Amino acid sequence: MKGIFITFEGSEGSGKSTQIRLVRAYLKKKKKPVLFIREPGGVRISEKIRSILLDVANMKMGDECETLLYMAARAQLVREVVAPALKKGKIVLCDRFLDSTVAYQGYGNGVDIATIKRIGRFATCGIRPDITFFFDIDAPKGLSRINRPKDRIERRAMSYHNRVRQGYLAIARREPGRVKWIDATQSKDEIYAAVQQHIDRLLQGR
Ligand SMILES: Nc1ncnc2c1ncn2[C@@H]1O[C@H](COP(=O)(O)OP(=O)(O)O)[C@@H](O)[C@H]1O
Ligand SMILES: [Mg+2]
Repeated sequence: MKGIFITFEGSEGSGKSTQIRLVRAYLKKKKKPVLFIREPGGVRISEKIRSILLDVANMKMGDECETLLYMAARAQLVREVVAPALKKGKIVLCDRFLDSTVAYQGYGNGVDIATIKRIGRFATCGIRPDITFFFDIDAPKGLSRINRPKDRIERRAMSYHNRVRQGYLAIARREPGRVKWIDATQSKDEIYAAVQQHIDRLLQGR
């Protein structure tokens, strides 16, 4: 794979979308071929799966179904867009990826993490991010930043969102080379300065 795969992770309201916008503008200014996508979604089939996942009418959805739908949406996105873009040498920015399933369905819901990773390898064709930014913020603070109607996952109890954060912290501790921990309570500019340093280092290595 010639391209660079960069993923953005963290709880709701941690600033993922904000930072992706800044990174995207920066890479475009540098005339880099950049592609931005979000999970779940990004292509037509996966966006349909997204609407099922986030629909507040689907409160009865079981943990296994939820996990597999996230993986199905991811599998289609990887096949249709991520893999071809990386092959062409593009820089792919993805709002959430496999770490989200480990954190939300694994640590949050209690789905077996080894199983998630095994299905994850199948769904992603083994494609892994070159670098992952984890924007860390405590759950109440992150959620308080959101001022739109909450979706099915966002409505879950604070104890759930706390487990998700602990899950992300565990992922970051386990893979410090790939996952860059960032204090998301800093200002947007401070956070972006840290992010850009990592991006510049990554670009220099190519
Ligand atoms: N560092 C920051 N400090 C304070 N507010 C922020 C910061 N980063 C983003 N926000 C605001 O918080 C809200 C959620 O940010 P967003 O980037 O959409 O988070 P996410 O995509 O992770 O849910 C937005 O209103 C955004 O303007
Ligand atoms: Mg967002």
